[in-house]
Amino acid sequence: MKIVMVCLGNICRSPLADGLMRKKVIENKLDIIVDSAGTTGIHAGKSPDPRMCQTAKNFDTPIDSLKARKFTVEDFDNFDIIFVMDKSNKSNVLQMAKNEEDKKKVHLILEMSHPGQNLEVPDPYYGGEEGFIEVYHLLDIATDCILEKIKNNELN
Ligand code: 4NP
Repeated sequence: MKIVMVCLGNICRSPLADGLMRKKVIENKLDIIVDSAGTTGIHAGKSPDPRMCQTAKNFDTPIDSLKARKFTVEDFDNFDIIFVMDKSNKSNVLQMAKNEEDKKKVHLILEMSHPGQNLEVPDPYYGGEEGFIEVYHLLDIATDCILEKIKNNELN
């Protein structure tokens, strides 16, 4: 199975979702590929935001080695599931879908932990440290739920 995490810049939320999921995949010895991308390429090639790197490190989930890239139409073929952080990411990704099969792959990541609530992972970019910590807790819970669903064969 291949999972891609998507946000706007691929420097705050989706690299953390990527790092958390990779860590849990390794800890659980699962055969799953995890990646991340941004709907915009303005930060392509860059490391994650230093504030996100620091928060991630404080919670023992280093993400410094990840590099931002832009989400491409090929990602629909290269990945089985596309987790987006907010509704704007969702609509941007859905606009690139080639068919219904592509569209079915796209899910708000917080639907995993808070089903039916249409919740978003807030963009921490323009705020303070507490926003990065909030993002960490939301994504820690969401990736725990993804892991459980994988183990129970409930993710498709
Ligand atoms: P991300 O956060 O989508 O979680 O990576 C942002 C990063 C950069 C910008 C906005 C959000 N920006 O406007 O440059």
